[in-house]
Amino acid sequence: MCGIVGYIGSNDIKEFLIEGLKELEYRGYDSAGMAVITDEDMRVFKAVGKIRNLEEKIKDFSPSGEGVGIAHTRWATHGKPTELNAHPHLGEFSYVVHNGIIENYKELKKELEKAGHRFVSQTDTETVVHLFEHYLKELNDPFRAFDKSVSRLEGAYAILLITKAAPDTVFFAKNGSPLIIGKNEKEEIFFASSDAPLIGHASEVTYLEDKTRGYCKKEQISIFDESGKNIKPDFKPLTADKELAQKGGFRFFMEKEIYEQSRVISETIMGRVKSDGVELEELNREFLDGIESIKICACGTSYHAGLSGAYLIERLSRIPAHVEIASEFRYKDPVLSDKTLFVVISQSGETADTLEALKMAKRSGLKTLAICNVDNSSIVREADITLLTRAGIEKGVASTKAFATQMMVLWIFALYLAQKRGINPQTLSKEIDAILHIPKLLQVKAGLHEKIKRLSKRYLHGHGFFFIGRDIFYPLALEGALKLKEISYLHAEGYPAGEMKHGPIALADPELFTIALMPKNLLYEKIKSNVEELSARDSTILAISPEPFEIADDFIKIESHDHYMMEYFEMMLVVQLLALEIAIRLGNDVDMPRNLAKSVTVE
Ligand code: M6R
Repeated sequence: MCGIVGYIGSNDIKEFLIEGLKELEYRGYDSAGMAVITDEDMRVFKAVGKIRNLEEKIKDFSPSGEGVGIAHTRWATHGKPTELNAHPHLGEFSYVVHNGIIENYKELKKELEKAGHRFVSQTDTETVVHLFEHYLKELNDPFRAFDKSVSRLEGAYAILLITKAAPDTVFFAKNGSPLIIGKNEKEEIFFASSDAPLIGHASEVTYLEDKTRGYCKKEQISIFDESGKNIKPDFKPLTADKELAQKGGFRFFMEKEIYEQSRVISETIMGRVKSDGVELEELNREFLDGIESIKICACGTSYHAGLSGAYLIERLSRIPAHVEIASEFRYKDPVLSDKTLFVVISQSGETADTLEALKMAKRSGLKTLAICNVDNSSIVREADITLLTRAGIEKGVASTKAFATQMMVLWIFALYLAQKRGINPQTLSKEIDAILHIPKLLQVKAGLHEKIKRLSKRYLHGHGFFFIGRDIFYPLALEGALKLKEISYLHAEGYPAGEMKHGPIALADPELFTIALMPKNLLYEKIKSNVEELSARDSTILAISPEPFEIADDFIKIESHDHYMMEYFEMMLVVQLLALEIAIRLGNDVDMPRNLAKSVTVE
């Protein structure tokens, strides 16, 4: 996803901007650029591909003295990754960088073209700089012109704008996309999409609220709400310790990443889910022509996402979908047909077995699609097409936000396939409505976390855990068990609830903990009787459900929803937090569990 940095001051502008962009690299991008105004000059540089290409272009540029600068890494949403589409975008005398999506840019562009503005890029962002210059002519006041421009924008944005009309000033606006302002004792002012570029530069930062806008120049930071009311910025000290800052006050990266799920999943959805359907710009319609079935291949948590995705794909689109563990697939001499779309899922994009499975499928002439979190990774480079999950960097070895975003991409992809084949409009609208509720529902409620923390002390021993679920909740049970075993080192298994009586129930006794995923919207009565059978054999039951369940020894209540995927995402949060709290109580290094690596590049 795009990243923004900005600077006002007299130190090395170029150095701060380029190093800041590097700190944001993990977000994924396909081009980069910067614009700088100093006493002497106004310069812009852009490059497609890696930041080193931009560095090459600016190697002879040495701005000096007071100045302002803005820079950007672009992850293409409107228009291809070209220099013309890279930010900053230029009007006649101003530059803008932007994260997010301006939803009404087509109307604005038409209006501005009529008024004589000439556009050179295919982006939504370029409208912002033209709007600004348009209103500047009318109002003759740079901030009023900027404010009026921002009030015309619909959608999500974090914007920085610099202009020759006010060469010492950076104008900014925020709605939906993150934007932080930092300052220090050396009278420098900084802007960035996240803390990382500011550490070591700013001593204090303020996190802008949605719908705010304003301007900064030396010794002046003015912030306003949309009604024009001046807002006193709430500056907080910024730690100089990178690792501490990156953990953002959480005990472990895994905990922070669980809390980030609500935000990152909004980024996964952004631009892909509209009120009347889903869009996947990365896929051209012909790509799926002739496809009659789908084979999904992955490892670990990504495999669990794949299993869940197959339920969604079959249920929504009626296209047969099969899932295989990559290390098994590679050596089984599989029968492959070119009417099958081969989908690989990977957080890192470097997992050796998944990568090799992908290469095998390509050699057999299959079309390939990667669902991946790391742009430019080996898997992304190898696949015909990639849907990036946009989870941001995931540091905890136990995957959490990567899983959540994989699930969201798979759900959107399933709907995309269903749309292509013709989906009932009521079903489509119910699915979209549910998708749009997920970010809110993933916000961790203090009460829920506290309850899980308290409950966790009862689950530190025993001879094993069974996570059970039915239908799409079965792969979620697998994932819950994997989360617990990899960080707590306790033995945990995921099972389809209906399978217990075919053997595993023999293990039932009070020291066998059953974590039962009991959604109201999918096979509730069926799973209820499976859990009753376990309870009758004295297994200790922890039920997770919106419905009260009298015979449970412990009960975690989730909200009542009318779509099973809303229950799925909420239960995902619960099993992640449960694993985290048990592992913390056991004194384990949650982020770096023994014997495991984040990226498994050997088979
Ligand atoms: O990077 P990948 O998604 O390809 O990694 C696959 C597995 O190694 C990974 O999901 C692993 O199972 C995690 N430790 C799970 O938390």
